[in-house]
Amino acid sequence: MRVLLLGSGGREHALAWKMAQSSILEELFIAPGNAGTKMHGKNVDMSVNDFKAIKTFVIENTIDIVVVGPEDPLVNGIADFFKADDELSKASVIGPNKEAAQLEGSKDFAKQFMKRHNIPTAKYATFTKDTLSDGYKFLESMNPPYVLKADGLAAGKGVLILDNIKEAKLELRNMLADAKFGEASARVVIEQFLDGIELSCFVITDGDAYKILPEAKDYKRIGEGDAGLNTGGMGAVSPVPFANPTFLDKIKNQVIIPTHKGLKKDGIEYKGFIFFGIINVKNEPYVIEYNCRMGDPETEVVIPRLKSDILDLFEGVATNTLSERDVQFDERSAAAVMMVSGGYPEKYAKGKQIFGLNAVTDSIVFHAGTVSDGPAVTTSGGRVLAVTSYGKDLATALKKSYESVGKVEFDKSYFRSDIGFDVL
Ligand code: AMP
Ligand code: GLY
Repeated sequence: MRVLLLGSGGREHALAWKMAQSSILEELFIAPGNAGTKMHGKNVDMSVNDFKAIKTFVIENTIDIVVVGPEDPLVNGIADFFKADDELSKASVIGPNKEAAQLEGSKDFAKQFMKRHNIPTAKYATFTKDTLSDGYKFLESMNPPYVLKADGLAAGKGVLILDNIKEAKLELRNMLADAKFGEASARVVIEQFLDGIELSCFVITDGDAYKILPEAKDYKRIGEGDAGLNTGGMGAVSPVPFANPTFLDKIKNQVIIPTHKGLKKDGIEYKGFIFFGIINVKNEPYVIEYNCRMGDPETEVVIPRLKSDILDLFEGVATNTLSERDVQFDERSAAAVMMVSGGYPEKYAKGKQIFGLNAVTDSIVFHAGTVSDGPAVTTSGGRVLAVTSYGKDLATALKKSYESVGKVEFDKSYFRSDIGFDVL
């Protein structure tokens, strides 16, 4: 199979690492990739949103499947673009079409979908510039903290959680009337605050059958004890100890199956990964969000726990035969610790050389913000490396990852030393 993978983060390195182990892989290209993906295929200097360039590349290199890592190209309609073009009819996109990707691309769409199909989620209402005063009234009818969500994609920054009503009203105005997040906040969802502990669940589907992947928990805040600013994710663990079989069953019956049936009922064809952001409130699952892709850094612990051939699953998605494919998981735990550039998620320096990568023997180092500079590897982003290890339990996996992190160095590197603290 000839594969083009789109993206350049730790998620994509983990997917490339896994695809490289497949017996049916012929050639793997990654666009644009990073210094890690290069170890498993050829990096191609091409933007994930440049559909015209992607088309030319796919034709010239007789690509069979295009695996889409990030949400942007999906929400922008890359699957529809391929479907509409006869010259691309031989290539399959692993990722949902534009309509299905609205589950991530529009919070209001996702909330309406959940309401329509009785999927547990926080109570909500949606407002626009023209209904700003109704929005104020709605806020007054709620208890703090107030949860405000820009409807569209806002690079992970579109959710505000505010303790005070004055601030909440001001931010609602900023979002709706002053376009704080541009077009993304032309509509704002205000929802009830849910108090609980979060986890991430994943399925892969061909539109008919689906397979549930191992669950994971990520650590979004920059500081220890989950303090400070939100980041793209500072680490992840899988499995999640509080997600016992009873709770996972509830997720399956109350969230996954109704989502699957709901998509069918609404006539929405969904091919690819579905990411369920779940919050456990007194042992009941509620959906916080859907994403139309895998999570990052969750992929760096979920994919290492997949024993089956991932290209066999992708082929199942492409040919609507996922039900015939076998999926097996590794019983071991996996833990990832993210090494980031000092200053991240605010201002940070790039271009710092990374030392010690070859000294790591007990972990897998997935690259995120890295580039090759001749034989050297240097930093090129906020999140730089995800250091993943297996263990008989999470504590063992985490211990190994921290030992490996200790061997890798770059100027002003930072990591959280308490990944897994709340679930061990
Ligand atoms: P989202 O982009 O919708 O996942 O929101 C980002 C983060 O905000 C989530 O991961 C949660 O930590 C938090 N969050 C979102 N919605 C709620 C809610 N209704 N109650 C409590 N926390 C929330
Ligand atoms: N780790 C959360 C996400 O990928 O959105």
